Amino acid sequence: MRKAIIAGTSIEDIINRPVRTYRTDYGDVDAAEDGSFVYILRHRRGHTEAPHLINYLANAALLETLEVEEVITTHAVGSISERLLPTSIGLVSDFIDMTYGRPLTFFDGKARPLKHTPMNDVFDDELKFQAIRASVEKNLRISPALTYITTNGPRLESKAEIRAYRSWGADVVGMTLNPEVNLIHELGIRLCSICFSINWAAGLDEEGISFIEGESRKRVINQVFDIAINALM
Ligand code: HPA
Repeated sequence: MRKAIIAGTSIEDIINRPVRTYRTDYGDVDAAEDGSFVYILRHRRGHTEAPHLINYLANAALLETLEVEEVITTHAVGSISERLLPTSIGLVSDFIDMTYGRPLTFFDGKARPLKHTPMNDVFDDELKFQAIRASVEKNLRISPALTYITTNGPRLESKAEIRAYRSWGADVVGMTLNPEVNLIHELGIRLCSICFSINWAAGLDEEGISFIEGESRKRVINQVFDIAINALM
């Protein structure tokens, strides 16, 4: 069975297989293969595509073309609630999509028949269980059920926006979960999403926005990759 990891910010740096460009009906994708594993570089080679300009359709279409059956998506995020502190790792269990101007669906009644895909069970229970099992085996903590709010970026949020998102129940904020998971889910491919926090969101840190760097960043990236690979094994 083919499996995939969508490598986001920083995770892309530790893919040590040769990257090549794959053609899909929706555009080009940079990815690497290693046996039954496929690693998609979400922001393409050299991290050149901003979150609002990523070709989410092409990335998801490549999974379908390669007949991938299980996917783990990885996301650097900012912390909004105490359920995920900076340097920590968590699983997404729900989302709020604040994006605009991004592709919405494969099933628009043109290329494929119109479909209204439910979004209540996007994150596969079995894969989440496997990610928790992999974390326990590695002695790593993983927060099990986070609500991720996707902002359009590339700018960061205002303090008032973060206060509002916190009051809506968002635990973490990032720019890439949607529409990535929506598109993969509507293709019927099983997925789960792992996020790791690299900062407190706007207004929650007296010092302003400060991103974890250096050793603590390296450590969490390696831990996320390790969990993702072992969850899919
Ligand atoms: N906001 C949005 N996206 C992010 C953040 C943030 O604070 N940190 C990492 N990705």
